[in-house]
Amino acid sequence: MKPLRIGLVGAGFAADYHVECLRRVYGVPLEIVGLTSLRAESREAFAAARGLRAYDSVEALLQDVDVLDILSPPSVHQEQILQAAAAGKHFIIEKPLTGYFGPSEPPLPAGAGAGSQASPWRGDLAPKSPMLAAVMDSLAALSAAVSSAGVICGYAENFVYAPAVQKEREILEKTRAQVLRMYGEESHNGSASPVYGIWRFAGGGSLIGKGCHPLGALLYLKRVEGLTRLGRPLRPVSVSARTHEITRLPDYDDQGFLRTDYHDIEDYGQMHVVFEDGTVADVITCELVLGGIYDYVEVFANNHRARCRLNPNDLMDTFNPCGENFADIYTVEKISTKEGWSPVAPDEHFTMGYQAELQDFLECIAGRRQPQSDLALALDTTATIYAAYVSAEEGGKEQEIPRLLED
Ligand SMILES: NC(=O)c1ccc[n+]([C@@H]2O[C@H](COP(=O)([O-])OP(=O)(O)OC[C@H]3O[C@@H](n4cnc5c(N)ncnc54)[C@H](O)[C@@H]3O)[C@@H](O)[C@H]2O)c1
Repeated sequence: MKPLRIGLVGAGFAADYHVECLRRVYGVPLEIVGLTSLRAESREAFAAARGLRAYDSVEALLQDVDVLDILSPPSVHQEQILQAAAAGKHFIIEKPLTGYFGPSEPPLPAGAGAGSQASPWRGDLAPKSPMLAAVMDSLAALSAAVSSAGVICGYAENFVYAPAVQKEREILEKTRAQVLRMYGEESHNGSASPVYGIWRFAGGGSLIGKGCHPLGALLYLKRVEGLTRLGRPLRPVSVSARTHEITRLPDYDDQGFLRTDYHDIEDYGQMHVVFEDGTVADVITCELVLGGIYDYVEVFANNHRARCRLNPNDLMDTFNPCGENFADIYTVEKISTKEGWSPVAPDEHFTMGYQAELQDFLECIAGRRQPQSDLALALDTTATIYAAYVSAEEGGKEQEIPRLLED
């Protein structure tokens, strides 16, 4: 079998761990051909450090690959997915699939940081129903392009592939459990990306940037239950949500420990989702967490209960009397100090699901199968989140989730 040739779009945080995980994929011959990104300097440095070739455009990269791994900011995902599909190339897309990034106007200057006032448009003040309508149009365009090109989409929702969530999938399938309620969270102190915090680049705040993770896992588990018990997925039908901007409250007392430079996004959100069988899921997500990333999923079923810990996950704790001691030791994502006790993630790529995610995508592309985390999951997740923004605008009023694909 000829190796699958893969090219990356992006040379940032996600590109770094995608290369590491792709290099650990087994059983599927592959070649990481190279990458492109916005700035020549950073793509050449990234490529040189990893022995890859730097390309100066997505078009040029597409000529040399079978799979495009899209690791750019959310605002350009749609355009790059359409490019991949038009070229008949399979693709892997980082979360979120896409979103709403404001009315068309000249793009912001490259490298504009969080807090940039370059665009007068503000996502927090913009009406949310037109956003939902525009997002549904985008999702329809993506879905049509992927299906007419006949390419495989790997939706990089790592929560789906976390070992604990996959163990829960096995339990649901083997015990034919009915899930009655679920609970999930992803929260941590901001993002590594300089454009996180600006709606024009990110498509929103905590709900889309972080909430998509637990939401994706909860929608996935309910889908597994439906396929096992009923032979069809159980999908979300409505959502009630609240969003808040806690670090921008006039009385917020900034002691310097939490990131606060969010331009026009929420830094706290919650979503209450109702499924078509009347069961429920609740998601909490925010930027207001010290002590490292906080990611988990809980399932309350009719025959068992499960707590799936992604991070921290209790594999290892260290006590370090002096921060300097661990200066060149990575412990866990977004921990602000390594002094005292730390919840260490000895192999974060494995426990967070990144490794299994890329393994599944490559196997599925080679075998022309749909991955566990696929376009259908990405479509439902995105529609739910923008319906949640409409609900939040109306103080939490229940909002129907538009449905793109029928079962
Ligand atoms: N699954 C996860 O846990 C996780 C974690 C981090 C990021 N992400 C996702 O990965 C994606 C990238 O995030 P990041 O933190 O790596 O961002 P980043 O800002 O660190 O890197 C983004 C890269 O994309 C490049 N880029 C921007 N616009 C481009 C364009 N038009 N064409 C080509 N390249 C372009 C930039 O030059 C940069 O190299 C986002 O969708 C983010 O949500 C997922």
